[in-house]
Amino acid sequence: MTEQPPFHEIFYCSVLAQDLPGTAVGAIVSQARARNARQNITGLLVFDGMRFCQHLEGPRDAVQALMRRIERDPRHLDVRVVYEGPLQARRYSGFGMGLAESEGPDLMAGVHALEGEAALKHFLALRSSFDING
Ligand SMILES: Cc1cc2nc3c(=O)[nH]c(=O)nc-3n(C[C@H](O)[C@H](O)[C@H](O)COP(=O)(O)O)c2cc1C
Repeated sequence: MTEQPPFHEIFYCSVLAQDLPGTAVGAIVSQARARNARQNITGLLVFDGMRFCQHLEGPRDAVQALMRRIERDPRHLDVRVVYEGPLQARRYSGFGMGLAESEGPDLMAGVHALEGEAALKHFLALRSSFDING
């Protein structure tokens, strides 16, 4: 029998709800950090003033349950899971949920335009250009 990989990852993109100020993102992230730490979930949320991309990783059940809550959250729209799959080793063990502000809309528009693993790879390649607040 082959062993299941220990982790699971989900990468999704969405758009900030129209009536919400960009400053609402600070509240989302501080709540997310406390909850994710309890659930052993790590990851990165990137926001460019309008679009979100979030990469979540951790135990599969916890990550999938979180994704179901996030999908129902009215603070964003057009929530689209772009990539989901098993993961051998965490990519973000350094922090619970990092927040990065993406400078200018072009980078995120590029990620939003892609699908599946191509979108995830593009996002991971952009990581070094983000200014991450762990
Ligand atoms: C863009 C975005 C990212 C979010 N990321 C997380 C997260 O990483 N962890 C988390 O617990 N909640 C996150 N939330 C909040 C959840 O959608 C939800 O409000 C929260 O988990 C509480 O769920 P509950 O009200 O069903 O208990 C995020 C919400 C948005 C809009």
